[in-house]
Amino acid sequence: MACTYSKKEDARRRAFEAIWANDINEVFADVADYYDRINLFASLGMLDIWRDNFISTIETRPKDRVLDVCAGTNVVGIDLLKRQPDLDVYAIDRSVAMQEVGRERAQRQGFNINGVIGDVHKLPFPDNYFDVVTLQYATRHLRVMDVFCEINRVLKPGGHFYHCDMLRPANKFVEQAYYLYLRSCLMFLSWAFRSGKAAVRCQGYFIDAIRMFYSTEELSRMMSELGYSNIVGKSVLGGAVAFHQACKG
Ligand SMILES: C[S@@+](CC[C@H](N)C(=O)[O-])C[C@H]1O[C@@H](n2cnc3c(N)ncnc32)[C@H](O)[C@@H]1O
Repeated sequence: MACTYSKKEDARRRAFEAIWANDINEVFADVADYYDRINLFASLGMLDIWRDNFISTIETRPKDRVLDVCAGTNVVGIDLLKRQPDLDVYAIDRSVAMQEVGRERAQRQGFNINGVIGDVHKLPFPDNYFDVVTLQYATRHLRVMDVFCEINRVLKPGGHFYHCDMLRPANKFVEQAYYLYLRSCLMFLSWAFRSGKAAVRCQGYFIDAIRMFYSTEELSRMMSELGYSNIVGKSVLGGAVAFHQACKG
């Protein structure tokens, strides 16, 4: 589908397709066991607050069918089930290691999440299937337009999409300070957690992926061009992190 951002999507794909195909899975396999601790540390403890914030915006009704895309260690699915245990929650992620951690964690807390291992560029679900779809902290690693179209396809008409990620701050000063902080943080964490080769190799990528990513407003416009309605985008930290919600149709 043509969109204002088709060219930028092509540039992102050309720049990162080798890393997306070869390295990202290895990075998440390497960090799966300590992924949540690393994130909490890197965000100086803000991650839990932002997640509570994100979860509180997600509206669910009894027995809703929910899909968490790029579910990783199932943090979103588990939080939603804690709030409403009768939800029918699905998770999809390409990383067996991240999902294994997530499956064990859900089970330990008495929850069942229907985990699917797969690439989210083609969601293995029928059209109009989910009431709610969530996607947290992964879109930078994806062909965004393709995945947002897939999410739109599997949502029921009137269903809701909730999105959260680290975005490219619109303010240049905030943007440069943000990259500086991320670079130091990634170097320290790789050393402290004895990260494997792929994680060390991808340190530069993690910053470039944000540099070539979208601002809050750009992501809102993309959603609108792809057919979503009632789009609300809210940023924190000068646009370094943003929360979006949108409706199908
Ligand atoms: C930064 S983690 C976020 C995990 C989780 N959403 C969270 O908030 O903690 C990114 C996740 O996206 C997954 N991922 C990246 N590219 C993917 C793809 N093409 N298909 C499926 N999963 C993918 C990774 O395996 C990883 O688990």
